[in-house]
Amino acid sequence: MKTERLTEKDLERAAELLREGGLVGIPTETVYGLGANGLNEEAVGRIFEAKGRPQDNPLILHIPTGEWLIRYCKEIPQAAFDLASAFWPGPLTMILKARDMIPKRVTAGLETVGMRCPAHPLCRAVLTAAGVPVAAPSGNTSGRPSPTKAEHMLEDMDGKINGILDGGPCTVGVESTIVDLTVWPPRVLRPGGVTLEQLREVLGNVEVDEGVFRLMESGESPRAPGMKYRHYAPKAPVTVVRGAPEQTADYIEAELTEKSGVICFEEYEGRFSGHTVYTIGSVGDLSQQARLLFDALRAFDHSDVTEIWAQGPEDQGLGLAINNRLNKAAGFHVVEVGER
Ligand code: TXA
Ligand code: MG
Repeated sequence: MKTERLTEKDLERAAELLREGGLVGIPTETVYGLGANGLNEEAVGRIFEAKGRPQDNPLILHIPTGEWLIRYCKEIPQAAFDLASAFWPGPLTMILKARDMIPKRVTAGLETVGMRCPAHPLCRAVLTAAGVPVAAPSGNTSGRPSPTKAEHMLEDMDGKINGILDGGPCTVGVESTIVDLTVWPPRVLRPGGVTLEQLREVLGNVEVDEGVFRLMESGESPRAPGMKYRHYAPKAPVTVVRGAPEQTADYIEAELTEKSGVICFEEYEGRFSGHTVYTIGSVGDLSQQARLLFDALRAFDHSDVTEIWAQGPEDQGLGLAINNRLNKAAGFHVVEVGER
């Protein structure tokens, strides 16, 4: 299959491909998505084939406006409307009870569905033009780092999808926060672009699922089925080093071998000269770290490093999502080096 390269001027073509059951790479503010008409069972099935995604991992439905929520969900609690008015359009996915019209392939047979109204203007325009909810997981091959640029998505999907709509680099860079609103208190299943602190301002009480902090063992069934799979992983194994940045830099410097690669804060780049190093921004700049993380993880696959060491931020704000992605990329292989 030839993958059509589309830009803003080809909006109608992208919408047409979606309506007709094709697969289209779509930009969002978080990461690029692999979109298909969410009401078309066959089209949705093709998403799983193109990604090599396990069938039991449900998809998120993307809608152009929060008003569409009631079309596809039922028994919606007030908290969901409160969150929608605070954070939509934006990087928040809500798990709600699904109406019967949602194909079982989207929900992987669950009674619930993930709903998201993205903020990227071109994404909203294509959703509006398509006139259907768009089912879209992140646009990477299953297990690889999520794509934050159209080029990333083409690395994985060229020839497997009908088109890709280039909307430039993603501005958030980590995926949406997933909140389960079918339980009380609401529960964060995946930290993301909307922080826990922001959610607590609107909801008061919010719990964080334990799958955010540790590897789910075989036999356990996590609430977000995707949490049991290895994710975001470059080919070389990753070790995350947590602690005060000065100390984690010391630790990594001492452990480096000839073929080690490093993900570090800008301030420490000089410590690792002679090695393959990707900086993800300044120690305090969590937005920049989130934006650059997947790019860095992907970049190592074009180098000959055999192991990767990574400095991680604190868990506050966007740091919780950044650490979750780093920890998952590392298969939760994390070293703690003292207090911050
Ligand atoms: O930012 C994002 O959310 C991106 C962009 C493209 O919108 N999408 C994304 O989709 O990250 P995906 O499929 O890569 O991750 C969705 C996660 C998976 O871990 C899946 O198991 C979980 O959401 N999920 C989807 N529907 C669910 C449901 N009904 N109940 C629990 N978890 C669900
Ligand atoms: Mg994904």
